[in-house]
Amino acid sequence: MRLTGSFTPPGDKSISHRLALMSLVASGDVRLTHMAPGADVNSSLAAAAGLGAEVRAEGVDLIVRGAGGRIDEGAAIDCGNSGTTIRLLMGLLAGRVGEYVLDGDESLRRRPMERVATPLRLMGAEVDCLEGRCPVTVRGGALKGLDYRLPVASAQLKSAVLLAGLQAQGATRVIEPRPSRDHTERLISLFGGRIERLDQGWRVEPSELTLSGDLRVPGDPSSAAFFLCAAAVIPGSDVTAEGVLLNPTRIGFLKVLERMGAVVEIEEQSDRPEPWGRVRIRHTGGLTGCRVSGQEIPFLVDEVPILALTATQAQGTTIFSEAGELRLKETDRLSAVAGQLGRMGARLRIEGDDLVVEGPSALGAPPELDSFGDHRMAMTLRLAGLLAGAEPRIVDEDCVRISYPGFAQDLDGLLS
Ligand code: S3P
Repeated sequence: MRLTGSFTPPGDKSISHRLALMSLVASGDVRLTHMAPGADVNSSLAAAAGLGAEVRAEGVDLIVRGAGGRIDEGAAIDCGNSGTTIRLLMGLLAGRVGEYVLDGDESLRRRPMERVATPLRLMGAEVDCLEGRCPVTVRGGALKGLDYRLPVASAQLKSAVLLAGLQAQGATRVIEPRPSRDHTERLISLFGGRIERLDQGWRVEPSELTLSGDLRVPGDPSSAAFFLCAAAVIPGSDVTAEGVLLNPTRIGFLKVLERMGAVVEIEEQSDRPEPWGRVRIRHTGGLTGCRVSGQEIPFLVDEVPILALTATQAQGTTIFSEAGELRLKETDRLSAVAGQLGRMGARLRIEGDDLVVEGPSALGAPPELDSFGDHRMAMTLRLAGLLAGAEPRIVDEDCVRISYPGFAQDLDGLLS
């Protein structure tokens, strides 16, 4: 059993969310190709449509007409499982007159929202969270610009403040403890907003955004990572991901794979709307463990589960330093990954905020593993099963539809 051939990962989830949601404060039309197909981005599209943007399918494309800031007041907005939907919406709605209630599923109701509410209140919005979580009520209105130092390196939090800043009086400055993915910033600039990079952050000025033309969303590196990482550890594998987003804030996992000794071939093919191209990984064996610094975590935050699986096959110790933010994802990913891979015979431990993996380990599969309803856990465990030469039942495996509904089909296409 090995993985060979090429596949095209689904459209990038982070960029797709932003395209859907930013239409609320933009005018004009845009044709979007290769939008992320999962349930998460559907939550953003439904929210945008429910609040006043026009979203229409034309073949496989979506035509989106911006609401130009004329946002309807409405019933509660269901953000489903999606942290990006709710946090970006909080920032967008903070600048609109009206009252909006944002809620989500059980997993979303466990995740922190106060970190987003705090700066929005400082800008002048009224935001109520239920014990720091959702449902969240936003009563928006006139905002003033803010100078804000983010307490955590979170692109969702940064984006919420920047999107509120677009609608504020005066400039808004966001200082980041560590850089994180910069899609919001790039799209603000692409749609004509005034934003500039600072030494350690960003400064946005109140601006009108205009959608126009055609955009193809590059493939999601976080989805591609599953098969690319697996190719690095399954003998005989040779996998090419086509049309993958190569934004440096998203491909930290490729840097880590290289540091472990994998041979990663990258061919950039375009830089519109962001750099993207082809990534090929051939199994060459002999990976060694490495240290992943806290500075790198935001550039690979969603890839830690699959990288941890990769590290179980490398010689020596791999440390993911200062990875505490993983506790706040769809599930506590530190415990989930250490617990489930541990049950398969891998040696992982959590030391404070660090995840430590000792390799190599031969994996075995118990009859059942638990994804805890977390899509990235489910896909990691499916590939862990493959490494163990087994097909364990994965509880709630269906949750892969959140980000990668075609995962099983792409896996079948690569298996040989
Ligand atoms: C995302 C940012 C990350 C990431 C999430 C998507 C985004 O979360 O884990 O899957 O699109 O901005 P944080 O910004 O909270 O770290």
